[in-house]
Amino acid sequence: MKTKLKIFAVAASLVLGVATLMPTGGVTGELKSLRGEVGIGETDAIPDIHAVKEGADHGRAYRQQPPLIPHKIEKYEIDLKVNQCMYCHDWPNNTKMGAPKISETHYIDRQGNRLDNVAGTRWFCVQCHVPQTDAKPLVDNGFKPATAVR
Ligand code: HEC
Ligand code: HEC
Repeated sequence: MKTKLKIFAVAASLVLGVATLMPTGGVTGELKSLRGEVGIGETDAIPDIHAVKEGADHGRAYRQQPPLIPHKIEKYEIDLKVNQCMYCHDWPNNTKMGAPKISETHYIDRQGNRLDNVAGTRWFCVQCHVPQTDAKPLVDNGFKPATAVR
């Protein structure tokens, strides 16, 4: 009987021990998502990431960097059939719009064929090009531009 009680006591304390380790209010203070204190339902609270300096040039952090977009892009649709960026950035319309032509590399497909239209691999511009912004980094990092580590 005594040993049975002992076993019960050990089991009970184990259960209690595990329960206190469960992610209750006390533990979440240390376990943080990369999003910080912003709840999933409050994503509107994420800093404004719109180009704040229309037309300004933030330069490139390394030679191969896709240039940042110096203008707002929210209104330009890109989907399977439509790419409104190309309206201004494709040759020959770009000369009329005063916009830089997409890079020659964007007309070369994966096999190295030179195409007359933008390559499928470059269709979704914002995969590589992002609007310039002064938003503070969400996560600290030690990144330095190539010119600083030379
Ligand atoms: C209405 C015309 C227009 C549309 C549409 C447009 N752009 Fe631009 N874009 C420009 C002009 C003009 C510039 C020249 C720089 C400036 O704005 O000061 C430019 C500059 C850029 C640059 C900088 C190039 C460099 O060499 O620094 C990038 C990258 C760019 N646009 C990407 C995009 C992407 C991606 C889209 C679609 C989401 C887009 N643009 C839609 C007109 C346009
Ligand atoms: C896979 C990544 C990638 C995609 C997708 C992409 N670009 Fe680029 N883009 C780059 C890189 C890298 C450069 C700079 C080096 C180069 O010329 O290839 C560049 C250069 C440019 C330039 C500057 C050209 C110059 O001569 O100064 C413009 C404008 C541009 N891209 C627009 C676009 C547009 C518009 C789209 C969508 C149709 C697009 N890019 C898709 C990576 C990309």
